[in-house]
Amino acid sequence: MVRLNKGMFTSNSNEWQTPSDLFQDLDEEFEFTLDPCCTKETAKCAKFFTIQDDGLKQDWSKDVVFMNPPYGKEIKDWIKKAFKEAKKGATVVCLIPARTDTKYWHDYCFKGEVRFLKGRLKFSNAGSAPFPSAVVIFDKYRLIAKKEERLMERVKDLIPECESLEQVMHAIQVEIDFHKLSTGVFCGNGYISLPDNMSSDEFEEIVGDLWNEYWSEYS
Ligand SMILES: C[S@@+](CC[C@H](N)C(=O)[O-])C[C@H]1O[C@@H](n2cnc3c(N)ncnc32)[C@H](O)[C@@H]1O
Repeated sequence: MVRLNKGMFTSNSNEWQTPSDLFQDLDEEFEFTLDPCCTKETAKCAKFFTIQDDGLKQDWSKDVVFMNPPYGKEIKDWIKKAFKEAKKGATVVCLIPARTDTKYWHDYCFKGEVRFLKGRLKFSNAGSAPFPSAVVIFDKYRLIAKKEERLMERVKDLIPECESLEQVMHAIQVEIDFHKLSTGVFCGNGYISLPDNMSSDEFEEIVGDLWNEYWSEYS
């Protein structure tokens, strides 16, 4: 016979209380100042928001946030909020199910630092989780570092010898200044040339995309 535990019911999915040892470890590392989603009884910080305050509508940008959000459909709104607040200056540490196939994981979580947790969490009020969990950390520096990693991968496809993104961006700047992008881009260790099967318009679009993405959001 299958034994059901509270965690298997989605109607209970809003109240998974963080195990205290996990919270203590993270709190030692980050020194949290805000719990944006809790009840008065489960708040992890002196500053907190409950459903009555609606944490999603509040400003977190000056805080170091511990976020263990409701695990229902609304989780995507919490992740999006965490990501946006991090871009404004917050550090947000999220404890969430490792649902790595979801759109919000791909749109946001993978842009932060991801720490997959070993085994299953034992939530203080609901027993063992029927899903794997992860801690995802968003802050400006981590978001920038991840973005540069992604851009670097694309640059490496174009010019494998290239060593740094700054070098390529500088080279692109020089080429843009001299209106020479249509044949290729010189950079310290090599040359990003127009691939044989690519029109100069396409090439300019790719290099232009790199350029725009590099300068987007954090310029
Ligand atoms: C998974 S529990 C986490 C509780 C606590 N922060 C912890 O880590 O143990 C999620 C909490 O978010 C609260 N919540 C749901 N919607 C909210 C909202 N719009 N604003 C603030 N809190 C909300 C729920 O009442 C629930 O207590």
